[in-house]
Amino acid sequence: MIIRAEIPYLEDFMKTEINGFEMAYTDTGSGTPLVFIHGFPLNRQIWQPQMEAFKETHRVIAPDLRGHGDSQPIPGPYSVSLFARDVEALLDHLGIERKIVLCGLSMGGYICFEYFRKYPERLAGLVLTATWAEADTPEKRAGRDQSASNVLKNGVAPLAEGMLPLLLSPQTEQSNPAIVAEVAGILNGTSVEGTVGALQAMRDRPDSTPTLAEINLPVFVIHGADDRIIPFQEAEKMAAQIPQSKLVKIQNAGHLLNMEKPAEFNAAFKDFLETL
Ligand code: MLT
Repeated sequence: MIIRAEIPYLEDFMKTEINGFEMAYTDTGSGTPLVFIHGFPLNRQIWQPQMEAFKETHRVIAPDLRGHGDSQPIPGPYSVSLFARDVEALLDHLGIERKIVLCGLSMGGYICFEYFRKYPERLAGLVLTATWAEADTPEKRAGRDQSASNVLKNGVAPLAEGMLPLLLSPQTEQSNPAIVAEVAGILNGTSVEGTVGALQAMRDRPDSTPTLAEINLPVFVIHGADDRIIPFQEAEKMAAQIPQSKLVKIQNAGHLLNMEKPAEFNAAFKDFLETL
């Protein structure tokens, strides 16, 4: 049984029609743009600690991907390519001309690889958070299909209940009921269309391992020591294949390390930004 918190949605969001749907986003602060892409099946609210910290020095932009958060729950098919094009259309809409730092968490990282392949000239740096480069195995692909058909049949609540314990470290789970409740609220707030579409997109995403050696940008890889969805060793393996990478491990943090350990995450992020 999940205890749900009211979703303290960020209030200062905007909406725009792009690529045939209404996309919600937060856009705050000024300076070099930092663009934050959430994971599955989450929304831009996960970046609240980073928006608060970095809006003092940067322009911080965080979209809700199609079907997620306050964005329109349009039906699929979705793909990581479509997600990357949505992000690009938002940046065009906002008239962003400066190079951006793009930060993606987990599925957001899968979108970062695709964004790099499509729009490398846009990027000053990449921040790969709790993610990895490999494609789904056949077993994982079958699992995505099973999850999608369960969601179509039973809604998002059972998926949310199953995922919640995987997203946080044991320490967060025991010591931070506010975050547990906040994440439960976010998971349960994702539409069926968005959840199913994102499952398809992840199922069909390409292997980004061959891209790693081609990323000719500073890349910051940041990962929780206790990530139960993507083990830390995967981040180590990935960082080793990226020419200009820096890897940081956050202790006592799981898959949502930026929410679980915001001070440590933000300090490491700030150090990276200072090197650009
Ligand atoms: C995510 O956190 O975005 C997803 O769980 C990643 C995945 O399932 O591959």
